[in-house]
Amino acid sequence: MSRSLAPAERWRGGAGWTSALVVLALGWVAVPGFAQVPPAPGDALAGVTPDEFELFNIGLEDFLEVEEPEEGLGPAYNGTSCGGCHNVPAVGGISPVAELRAGMVDADGTYADFDADAGSLFQLFSIPSHGCQVVIPAEANVIARRVPIPVFGGGLVDAIPDDTLLALEDPLDLDRDGVSGRAAIVQDLATGDLRVGRFGWKAQHASLLVFGADAYLNEMGITSDLFPREQSFGIDPELMRLCDPIPDPEDVAERATGRRGIDNFESFMKFLAPVGRGAVDAQVLLGEQTFDAIGVRGVPRASAPYGAQHEPLV
Ligand code: HEC
Repeated sequence: MSRSLAPAERWRGGAGWTSALVVLALGWVAVPGFAQVPPAPGDALAGVTPDEFELFNIGLEDFLEVEEPEEGLGPAYNGTSCGGCHNVPAVGGISPVAELRAGMVDADGTYADFDADAGSLFQLFSIPSHGCQVVIPAEANVIARRVPIPVFGGGLVDAIPDDTLLALEDPLDLDRDGVSGRAAIVQDLATGDLRVGRFGWKAQHASLLVFGADAYLNEMGITSDLFPREQSFGIDPELMRLCDPIPDPEDVAERATGRRGIDNFESFMKFLAPVGRGAVDAQVLLGEQTFDAIGVRGVPRASAPYGAQHEPLV
């Protein structure tokens, strides 16, 4: 984690005026006598209350906790902690791990999962005695690798109202700006409501809570009340129980706090700051001009004062 430097040292350690200009470009307001420090990767959002900061830290601890089979890990899994795949350049980021998806395309080019229930994810590992190791069928003719997406600033994305995203929808490119798209409508498993998906490569979930619960099951094999059933390709439920006898759901609320692991993950990600913009050099400015020249719109610009947004905090 990048917590080795105190914020003031990071601030002074920058390139003097250049850093000051970058910060102004990012919209951090300079208050006389009070230097605003841009967040470093892994920091909490500026403006969290002491209680929220405490929840952020409890969440961080759980995000880093390495799980064991006795705590529910497996039978099939890709990683043993959230942090194992979200740690570059700080906890919450990415990692060199790519997970594996597989399926089949038939003669007319139609894609199908081998098992609609288990989906396309094939976990790489299994707990001892490995009777529930998942194996990709020989007929698979599509193999895809998916790399992690960082969760920095996730709370700001979580807080965007569905209507704001729906207002950006333009499936037929009626405004003829060359950009078209549909909002992904998904069911929020925590509330049952239909929501606009915004997390994951396919915008498959609408909230950090549900994405965290999905990751707990799919990446680590830990069930919760949102995803109460272990499932892995080709492993029948009876064998699954033998491989992992811990009763489901495995992630239950702690008696003292009433919080599940998935609540802790949500708190960490909700209060995790977005990454500030790097140095603005000639190449970056050229990129910005190219963005404008090709008319890319609806893309968050560095001038947006996101340092001042507090939606996740209300
Ligand atoms: C084995 C690696 C791995 C582990 C372990 C892992 N993740 Fe991820 N994470 C990924 C990958 C890969 C994606 C992109 C997945 C996709 O969209 O298909 C992702 C995406 C996410 C996203 C979506 C971010 C966005 O903005 O779209 C969230 C949130 C997330 N992970 C949270 C978690 C939490 C919480 C845990 C622990 C319970 C966890 N992850 C464990 C690999 C991992």
